[in-house]
Amino acid sequence: MTTSDVPTNGEKTILITGGAGFIGSHLAELMLDKGHRVEVIDNLSTGSLENIRHLLTNPHFDFARADVTEAVVLDRMASQADIIVHLAAAVGVQLVVERPVHTIETNVMGTDHVLRAALRYGARVLVASTSEVYGKGTKVPFAEEDDVVLGPTSKSRWGYAASKMVDEFLTLAYVREYGLDAVAMRFFNTVGPRQSGRYGMVIPRFVRQAVANEPLTVYGDGQQSRCFCDVHDVVRAVAELALTSNLEHHVYNIGGTEEITIEALARFVKVRTGSPSEVVFVPYGQAYAPGFEDMRRRVPDTTRIQDAIGWQPTVDLAQTVDTVISQFER
Ligand SMILES: NC(=O)c1ccc[n+]([C@@H]2O[C@H](COP(=O)([O-])OP(=O)(O)OC[C@H]3O[C@@H](n4cnc5c(N)ncnc54)[C@H](O)[C@@H]3O)[C@@H](O)[C@H]2O)c1
Repeated sequence: MTTSDVPTNGEKTILITGGAGFIGSHLAELMLDKGHRVEVIDNLSTGSLENIRHLLTNPHFDFARADVTEAVVLDRMASQADIIVHLAAAVGVQLVVERPVHTIETNVMGTDHVLRAALRYGARVLVASTSEVYGKGTKVPFAEEDDVVLGPTSKSRWGYAASKMVDEFLTLAYVREYGLDAVAMRFFNTVGPRQSGRYGMVIPRFVRQAVANEPLTVYGDGQQSRCFCDVHDVVRAVAELALTSNLEHHVYNIGGTEEITIEALARFVKVRTGSPSEVVFVPYGQAYAPGFEDMRRRVPDTTRIQDAIGWQPTVDLAQTVDTVISQFER
């Protein structure tokens, strides 16, 4: 481990692209709590002003409603920033199936703009990637240096993973070729308040269905499993990576290690909400697109981030689900 924390009295300016989104708004709160200045650029495509309304009057917070490819706005904000956390992206499997051109263009061009701006102003940059890049790999758990196995280009689903892989390749290319101080973060399933169920995210969708006494729709046979990590744990990891210099590696998994099948998750949500809803099974072809491919298991190896910054998740699934339920019941 070769880390040296930025002094806590050293106030930094953190630019968060996609900062009005789910992960970004929690990160903005945490960075402000730590005494840093926060700038957000967000086009509010999947994010919402409601997520950051409570921050707008904070003198250490600045928000621009703009696309990350709007050079003038990005340039103005990047020129003030010590660290850029690039979260703006077209997110989620459902969106990529419905809008593949938008997804690929947003993810690749957005990252290109951000890396150029970071290099121009000498800012450190953290780029959001995803566990989707592990594709159809069957290894348990997935470590950062493992091979990736994607499905064919004829299946739009893999376009999201491929666009994020290009983001990672580009980030690492800037590190090697220009010496940019950059890190790619592979988020596994992140959950918690403010996550929207509109784009196929499973926990907010189950909770909404349970609270409305509608059937909980499990896609496929429900025996596929995932590891969920609370957003508060995730942003703690992001903040620590952002504020720790001289990291040994440039790619880090960030995810929970508690594994649960999607059917078990549906039944768990049903119990926590006390809902009489049934659990029903919907074929993937009907939920997404004919021929849709899914992974059976996706478990992160978090040794690398533990070694680098001593990070481990602390919030269990029951706490997370209960917080999401309270958000839907308000
Ligand atoms: N939530 C997860 O489980 C998860 C898992 C893996 C990876 N990620 C990655 O983490 C990042 C944040 O995801 P999230 O879950 O908070 O999703 P989100 O949709 O809530 O956040 C994305 C934000 O980016 C904004 N945005 C999108 N395109 C933009 C553009 N071109 N210009 C400016 N703003 C734009 C959206 O309005 C939104 O506020 C994404 O890069 C995503 O790929 C998330």
